[in-house]
Amino acid sequence: MGPREAAGVLLDGLSRLEYRGYDSAGLAVAHRRKVTVRRTAGRVEDLRTLLGDAPPPGRSGVAHTRWATHGEPSEANAHPHTDASGRVAIVHNGIVENAEALRAALTARGVVLRSDTDSEALAHLVAEALDGGAATLADAVRTALAGVEGTYGLAVLDARTPDEIVVARNGSPIVLGIGDGEMVVASDLAAVVRHTQKVVFLDDGEIVTVRADGVEGSTRISPTTVDTGSEDYALGGHPDFLAKEIAEQPDALRRALAGRLDTRFATARLGGLGMDPRELRGVRRVLFLGCGSAYYAGEIGAGLVEQLARIPAAAEPAGEFRHRNPVVDPDCLYVAVSQSGETADTLAAVQELRRKGGRVIGAVNVIGSAISRECGAGVFLHSGPEVSVASTKAVTTMSVSFAMLAVLLGRVRDLSVADGRRLLDGLAALPRHVEAVLAEDAAHGTVAAVAQRWAHASSMFFVGRTRCSPVAREGAQKLKEISYCHAEAYPASELKHGPLALVTPDMPSVVVVPDDELLAKNVGTIEQIRARGGPVIAVTDAELPAGLADAVLRVPRTEPELAPILLGIPLQLLARHAAVALGRDVDRPRNLAKSVTVE
Ligand code: G6P
Repeated sequence: MGPREAAGVLLDGLSRLEYRGYDSAGLAVAHRRKVTVRRTAGRVEDLRTLLGDAPPPGRSGVAHTRWATHGEPSEANAHPHTDASGRVAIVHNGIVENAEALRAALTARGVVLRSDTDSEALAHLVAEALDGGAATLADAVRTALAGVEGTYGLAVLDARTPDEIVVARNGSPIVLGIGDGEMVVASDLAAVVRHTQKVVFLDDGEIVTVRADGVEGSTRISPTTVDTGSEDYALGGHPDFLAKEIAEQPDALRRALAGRLDTRFATARLGGLGMDPRELRGVRRVLFLGCGSAYYAGEIGAGLVEQLARIPAAAEPAGEFRHRNPVVDPDCLYVAVSQSGETADTLAAVQELRRKGGRVIGAVNVIGSAISRECGAGVFLHSGPEVSVASTKAVTTMSVSFAMLAVLLGRVRDLSVADGRRLLDGLAALPRHVEAVLAEDAAHGTVAAVAQRWAHASSMFFVGRTRCSPVAREGAQKLKEISYCHAEAYPASELKHGPLALVTPDMPSVVVVPDDELLAKNVGTIEQIRARGGPVIAVTDAELPAGLADAVLRVPRTEPELAPILLGIPLQLLARHAAVALGRDVDRPRNLAKSVTVE
């Protein structure tokens, strides 16, 4: 809100946030004590078309792009939702867990519900509180939320007080952007940085009233200045954000490594952990917790910690961990892994750990995000904003951060100076090596050709052994999520115990083959697949016997422990090229969203 017409600012903000969800979109603008709502099933572009040359006038408004949880993607279920009189408009992220009870109670009081969503109830509850005599909109929101169980990032507009918007947070992110005589509120920095770099991240439980000239009601309004700008969220000549983010990896790696390689003591410097050598030695186990690609990066991290620090390490999906009443081990270092820092399952796992006295650090990209704040200590990934739903550069910087953590934990135990140096040199060389992989594909279309040849397969296997097993899992995930080609990952040793039955000339296998002590075993795996007529795409940093595989994707030779990081890069390219060959929307795969802030 501020001096500008709101609709244009809102539409622009929505297109920046579309990666958070994109099955329906809508906006509401207040003008002359009236709220005008426009909504559509479909994307932000459809909403733009709907508004055409005549967007509703008004200088304050709210807008939303949705990732469906309750109710199909339709116009009726799209936000903003309004009360019966059309006076109150709300947009809501999160889940109202007692929605059914609230909806039933509203119906019993004669309210006619017009959607299947959990969110609509909020609009009616706020309107009821206003009708019941609440002194201010903020009071009405507070009264309404008193009976709500669940999570919310909520913005409320009232036609009668168009110069204010009330915002509330519980479990779903809210960021306030403080501009020059105007205020912007969003669920993500992406929509704010175009207008201002001065921001405030709301805490859970806060309810604030936002006006063009300031904010009222929070106990802790201390703005921070972020260093991201709108260019970080622009394509900058790339065909899609996925291509851009894959290409940005060498720089992202350089940032992630900067100042952290301590060649003098052959160790890593991770000041954000806040742990001295004695505390590091006290760590007897490491458990990585994350969702999706962050979980697979955690698996790579677990492999690195076990190899380099020789302590037990594992990874677990955060959403499983939080619900299985885990034994919290005081000697375990728990690592919450998240690009966005907002994933609900990961955040809940952190909260559960803290409740039970576990020591948890974050491995997070977004500074100021809920998980980073909840952890209070950890390692920031510095990969820069990631927009495409499929995570690439964040996964790579996660793995590199875990390699540094593993060196650090190793160097207060058994890892020698020589091995420490060898790994630091390997890490320092990684940005160059990634550059070489990307340049090779850009110049010769190596990965693109492989993708075109096999993109139409109805299913693929991804196979990796020990330290490269998570590389295969992440590669399969990437292909599935953006190309919709079915892919399944297996540890190489497991192939012969079942999956080989599916190998035919129509079932290609991508086999990850690091140049390590198990090279001969992986060559054997490839032979077993080919003996059954299955095509093999080998992804390797080794010299393989000529004719062993149907296609070979080479990466530069690196230290064996670090090979999983580099071998993942051609798999990202493979997934993207396959998706492009199949005509998919690579940045906005169906049914998914970039950060899932609901359970
Ligand atoms: C969603 C995204 C994935 C991502 C996962 C974890 O499912 O679609 O790409 O890996 O969330 O996100 P985070 O922000 O916690 O790393």
